[in-house]
Amino acid sequence: MRIQLKSPDEIRLMRASGLVAAEILEDMCQAAKPGVSTWDLDQIARAGIAKHAKRIEQEVVDSASAITKLSTDAKDELARLTETYTGLRALAKPGMTTGDVDQVIKSEVDKHKVRSAFLNYNAGGKPPYPGVVCTSRNEVIVHGIPRKTDVILDGDIIGIDFGIFMHGFCADTARTLPIGNVSPQKRKLVDVCRESLEKAIALCRVGSRLGDLGHAVQSYVESQGFSVVRQFVGHGTGKQMHEDPQVPNFGKPGTEKRLKSGLVIAVEPMVNAGTPDVEELDDEWTAVTKDRSMSAHFEHTIAVTDDGPWVLTRPTSSPGNP
Ligand code: MF3
Ligand code: CO
Ligand code: CO
Repeated sequence: MRIQLKSPDEIRLMRASGLVAAEILEDMCQAAKPGVSTWDLDQIARAGIAKHAKRIEQEVVDSASAITKLSTDAKDELARLTETYTGLRALAKPGMTTGDVDQVIKSEVDKHKVRSAFLNYNAGGKPPYPGVVCTSRNEVIVHGIPRKTDVILDGDIIGIDFGIFMHGFCADTARTLPIGNVSPQKRKLVDVCRESLEKAIALCRVGSRLGDLGHAVQSYVESQGFSVVRQFVGHGTGKQMHEDPQVPNFGKPGTEKRLKSGLVIAVEPMVNAGTPDVEELDDEWTAVTKDRSMSAHFEHTIAVTDDGPWVLTRPTSSPGNP
């Protein structure tokens, strides 16, 4: 599919989605302690999704009931109530049956509510993805499946990758955490991966090229003695989790597509302590380093705006202030 640039209104909805994804990821990070299983983290994320889904449903129902009580000339109030749930405007028409009203409410709830972007995700003949989160410990690069038997240990590094749809738009974000007493080498790997993402984010502005981003990540990571994974890349995101363009974590400056205002991309460097080579385990998802060296992964969903980068999955960010 062609690149889908987003309007300012769509980016506003994607920001709301990004904040919810960030909040739930933060809840998982707080809970990630020795003795906690990756399954427990998945359960936390499921509870967070359910809570926010219910909240949206309540918002739609409350707005709908306010609209049906409005006098027909209350234009400003209608605009306010339907700023996000635009389908509710239909309720301002007189003569609707309660059945019609219920239909409108149901379709707005379905369109806007929160759901996992990962659960049952289908990718090229693999079994559907069984979790709402990917949990990737130590030599696992990405796509680790949460399991009761996969318990976090002191000294681990663990990548937690989480994605949702809300208001019909995806937010995709990941972080790698050091757990307890982590070796200096592992700590450096995590710090370098995090910093490499920041270098790419700084370039998420109109006129940059995708090769500039890839080069910024790759050159920094390699200068620190680590390697970038080639087999997986970042991606555009929006109504689909994975949209064009691909966003590699390697490349040459001044090459590839130019970034335009309205582009929203998930940038996600995967950094290995050893070689960049990847091996897939028998579960068909878990991607580990071929040499079993440690690996780190960070990801944010970023909008390119006229004012500069807006990190939609970072609560403190605003347009031009990543
Ligand atoms: N969120 C991952 C990414 O960053 C993809 C996860 S695959 C899934 O692109 F199967 F878990 F959904
Ligand atoms: Co992700
Ligand atoms: Co992603």
